[in-house]
Amino acid sequence: PKAEKIKVKSVTDSIGKRVKLQGWIHRLRSQKGLVFVVLRDGTGFVQIVFSGDLANAYQTSTLTVESTISVYGVVEKLPEGKSAPGGVELVADFYEIVGLAPSGKDSFTNQIAEDTDPSILLDQRHLALRGEVLSSVMKVRAALLGAVRRVYIEEGVCEVTPPCMVQTQVEGGSTLFKLDYYGQEAYLTQSSQLYLETCLPALGDVYCIQESFRAEKSHTRRHLSEYTHIEAELCFITFEDLLSHIETVITKTVQYVLEDPVAGPLVKKLNPDFEAPKSPFKRMAYVDALEWLNEHGIPNEDGEAFKFGDDIAEAAERKMTDTIGVPILLTRFPVEIKSFYMKKCADDPRVTESVDVLMPTVGEITGGSMRLEGVDELVAGLRREGIDEKEYYWFIDQRKYGTSPHGGYGLGTERILAWLCQRFTVRDCSLYPRFTGRCKP
Ligand code: 4AD
Ligand code: MG
Repeated sequence: PKAEKIKVKSVTDSIGKRVKLQGWIHRLRSQKGLVFVVLRDGTGFVQIVFSGDLANAYQTSTLTVESTISVYGVVEKLPEGKSAPGGVELVADFYEIVGLAPSGKDSFTNQIAEDTDPSILLDQRHLALRGEVLSSVMKVRAALLGAVRRVYIEEGVCEVTPPCMVQTQVEGGSTLFKLDYYGQEAYLTQSSQLYLETCLPALGDVYCIQESFRAEKSHTRRHLSEYTHIEAELCFITFEDLLSHIETVITKTVQYVLEDPVAGPLVKKLNPDFEAPKSPFKRMAYVDALEWLNEHGIPNEDGEAFKFGDDIAEAAERKMTDTIGVPILLTRFPVEIKSFYMKKCADDPRVTESVDVLMPTVGEITGGSMRLEGVDELVAGLRREGIDEKEYYWFIDQRKYGTSPHGGYGLGTERILAWLCQRFTVRDCSLYPRFTGRCKP
């Protein structure tokens, strides 16, 4: 009889039909003259049973995990008490080996032990991706990027694709990756913010999903050298508008991911206790955070009590966020610990209209601010940072030719994913993570 070629995700719609499936052998076991295979094709998992002559065939005994096969058979609903993915199995009547994977010492198991040396897994990332956890995170990632685009479309924000090779810095010279650009000095972009700002007069509110690069010297669980940066810039807004827009984008994006038929159940599995955040988030000013940290005996980087102007470093920030246990909009950071482009608060020029979104388990997932609006104050900000304003003429022109009160933010895709999928490190949330010393595969 004829067999329709289908993907694993639609086997449950084909009960009683003869179908053809193609994929990788994810699990393999023989029992009482039967051979059970769990087949994986990227869209899901299905159990296949080989019996009789098929199970006894010479070829069946050579099958290995990660081999590819084409298999034909009828999809049957499993009786009560038997379990397999989707509650069905394919009763095979014919199969062919497409590519036999090695056995013995060259075999690869996608069942990754908890105590496996992480550097081995990173060297073998191309194979490790086949494991259930990493592939699940990548599917949630795909849904997240789709969800965030959907939210921006709904909010009327226009997508642009800024360049990766640039001659300006955004977030400090110490983390720039330099490159030789036809004999000129250029950098890999740290943030597309400056380019987004220039788009406002042409396109109105804009966003991009673009790689950002940071030559981070330190090994931490939440820093990558290359990450996928979701950034948006909005014109004619107040700081309050910016904060509520950020809440909307985060809550709606998470809602759409949880509603997604593929990603929703994966988040549930990876992070069973995950609670979708609700607007409005808890708001906390920087000075109140210092007070909170001091009251709770959490010291600054020098082991002393926090004082105004101190950076709240990763460990302290996470301790505070985990203890408070809900999303926090941390606002009004001092001028001296923030970037050159940030607008000062009207009621206190020592602090800026800036915000970090902190999530339990990860800490900062978003950083944003209102921007300086005038040419002179911007040039002063650049000089304070030791930056020669000549290379920034195009950015300064944004203020010269019709300035506006505007602001924006950047969301770290891998950090949101680490929070959503309960991963210890953002390295699990990037396809091929780049960090200090690692640029392969
Ligand atoms: O706080 P950051 O440095 O802010 C900016 O780049 C602004 N120019 C964004 C803007 O306003 N358009 O970075 C924004 C976010 C962080 O909150 C974090 O989630 C993520 O980007 N991020 C990193 N993620 C992984 N590895 C790194 N090294 C990261 N650095 C920042
Ligand atoms: Mg930041």
